[in-house]
Amino acid sequence: MQWEGVQFWLNGNPRVQVGANDQTLLDYLRHEGLTGTKEGCASGDCGACTVLIQDEVGGSHYPANACILPIQQLQHQGVLTVEGLANAEALNPVQAALIEQHGSQCGFCTPGFVMAMAGWLSAQPEATLSDHALMAVNANPIGKSAREAISGNLCRCTGYRPILAAAYQALAHPVENRRLPDSFGAGSDVTSSPQPEVVSATAIGAFYRPENLRSLEAILRLEPGAILVAGGTDLMLEVTQKQSQFSCLVSTARIDELKQLEFFEDQAVIGAGVTLSTLKQIAESAWPQLGTFLSRLGSPQIRNRGTVGGNLGTASPIGDLLPIFLAMDAEVTVGDAEGNRRCIELSEFLTGYRQTQLGPGEYILSVRVQGLEDFHRYYKVTKRQEDDIATVGVSLRLKLDGDTIIRARIAVGGVAEKACRLRAIEAQLEGVRLTPQLIETIRAAVGSQIRPLSDVRASAAYRHVLTANLLARGLTAATGLETRSVFEVEPDA
Ligand SMILES: Cc1cc2nc3c(=O)[nH]c(=O)nc-3n(C[C@H](O)[C@H](O)[C@H](O)COP(=O)(O)OP(=O)(O)OC[C@H]3O[C@@H](n4cnc5c(N)ncnc54)[C@H](O)[C@@H]3O)c2cc1C
Ligand code: FES
Ligand code: FES
Repeated sequence: MQWEGVQFWLNGNPRVQVGANDQTLLDYLRHEGLTGTKEGCASGDCGACTVLIQDEVGGSHYPANACILPIQQLQHQGVLTVEGLANAEALNPVQAALIEQHGSQCGFCTPGFVMAMAGWLSAQPEATLSDHALMAVNANPIGKSAREAISGNLCRCTGYRPILAAAYQALAHPVENRRLPDSFGAGSDVTSSPQPEVVSATAIGAFYRPENLRSLEAILRLEPGAILVAGGTDLMLEVTQKQSQFSCLVSTARIDELKQLEFFEDQAVIGAGVTLSTLKQIAESAWPQLGTFLSRLGSPQIRNRGTVGGNLGTASPIGDLLPIFLAMDAEVTVGDAEGNRRCIELSEFLTGYRQTQLGPGEYILSVRVQGLEDFHRYYKVTKRQEDDIATVGVSLRLKLDGDTIIRARIAVGGVAEKACRLRAIEAQLEGVRLTPQLIETIRAAVGSQIRPLSDVRASAAYRHVLTANLLARGLTAATGLETRSVFEVEPDA
């Protein structure tokens, strides 16, 4: 077994770290004295730990939460922290604009905002200060992208208006001033050298980084009890919140065969390793309903690392992709250590609260969804608009012939131990005309089909009302009467 630390680049300098297999990047940075990257929640929620990651020399930088990023996944990648952002001559434009706009009070959240905004700014076209007022309008695409860029960052004293004003002001800086420093330094051609597949094996545990499915399967034969880690945005909370330890972690992040993403006719095949950001970007044109919704799944930091396979693998009753995919008759392809493949309907794949059919040595390869051309909607209610998990999620797909429903699929999250289909309601809808009376009958019938719990997010009674009303909203939209939520309405409309 090869035994090495993880080799990566930090603010232009090479680093090697031999640590625990589940050490987070944040833990490493703070032990190294780079305390500009803050620890707020240690669970991906507040954005105070935001850093920028570069997968390759000269590649674009994307924001990520250092608090839930396993450092062992950074082999031959680059990390830029707030300490490496400005140069001796000038601050980054977002830093200068935050000062000018009074965008910082206690300052605890500021480095996280700076990194999220600097990453965003580096990818924006130049604008003038006279565009500034326009940016605040909901429909303005650059203003919208600025709001989205900071949706994974919390500030508890300044308020978001001056922070956003700083983002808009920074756009007036010439493009050459906004360029980010390369986090790789001299001699960084090391990235083209072969990468060891076991990057860490310590007394605390092993960490594998297979490059292809063949290697993954070989590792799973050797270590049938190994835990897979894709983005780590769910799994690493076990480490930071519950102090769990894993004797063997296997990262799927480098396996290209898991990154297949194909759309054809009204179907799609989505590899388990496709990140939520990539899915969002492609779906914006190939599956617009999903593409638009994905802005409400986590934050940019979470979507940049979180994957489709991780969302299915968690089998969380409040995960978003589960009800969406259940309504699209999804089928999961599973591989195993011996190279076998099997396909399972998603509804069968989910067996209970955070439980799936996956046995030892098995992994999710991809998921196939269909019916993309049918009418479909997904509605998610959360306590907070940005970066929040669902209280209830309702997904609806209808195949219509005129106003007659040929096929109905309804799936819900947050109202049972697992995401599930409401088959009795589907049967009630199929073969009949979609009329206002039918919608009211269905609204009244939903209650008997679900048994939600009361918890910190909502009471059972509220979840009943939400589910019935969201389903009625979807059915109403299918008649052509689309309603908009308060968040979609222009403030001055
Ligand atoms: C702040 C925050 C906000 C979030 N918001 C949302 C939200 O709005 N909606 C939502 O749905 N989720 C949300 N999540 C949960 C999480 O980000 C998503 O579920 C994400 O898709 C998980 O993907 P991952 O790659 O990070 O999974 P990981 O954390 O890497 O893995 C999760 C689980 O899946 C297993 N797994 C991963 N890949 C495979 C595979 N190929 N085969 C078999 N098992 C596998 C792992 O072993 C683990 O058990 C949020 C999380 C955080 C921290
Ligand atoms: S410390 Fe809060 S997101 Fe990382
Ligand atoms: S400035 Fe204090 S939390 Fe944002």
